Amino acid sequence: MGIRLSPYGVFNGIAPYDGLEDDYVLLASHLSALGLAYIHIVDHSSMGAPPLSPTIKQAIRRCFKQALILSGGYDLARAEHDLEAGFGDLVAFGRPFIANAKLVEKLQTGKSLREPDPATFYTPGEPGYLDYPVD
Ligand SMILES: Cc1cc2nc3c(=O)[nH]c(=O)nc-3n(C[C@H](O)[C@H](O)[C@H](O)COP(=O)(O)O)c2cc1C
Repeated sequence: MGIRLSPYGVFNGIAPYDGLEDDYVLLASHLSALGLAYIHIVDHSSMGAPPLSPTIKQAIRRCFKQALILSGGYDLARAEHDLEAGFGDLVAFGRPFIANAKLVEKLQTGKSLREPDPATFYTPGEPGYLDYPVD
């Protein structure tokens, strides 16, 4: 079992507050002690949310002993960089997968990626989910 945390998430009126970082670091230490398999940190600054400070990522990295998954606006180069720098153990991709069902294969072989259409995000029906070519 793992958990996805959005420390600077602004969904549904949530806003950053004084002491936010301390709260998340305390939470991460308790989750570490419980042996939780992973923390998946959401950084939605590439989608308009406030950026996560590097200090909160580093602090969670230090106090959480199991796997740390990074996410938000990653491409291959940034993912390789952050993994090599030890910022996390894994990197998750969201939007690139929507338009590239074979994302892993494309990243491995250096193929160019198809851009997803944001107009079809969070909409009902097939468009934007089931109508991208599978290549
Ligand atoms: C259409 C769409 C639906 C999403 N649904 C969820 C969701 O249900 N739960 C969640 O935690 N994140 C959700 N996300 C956020 C993604 O998991 C991810 O954190 C975000 O897209 C940033 O990563 P990316 O830059 O790799 O896309 C969604 C994103 C998109 C575009």
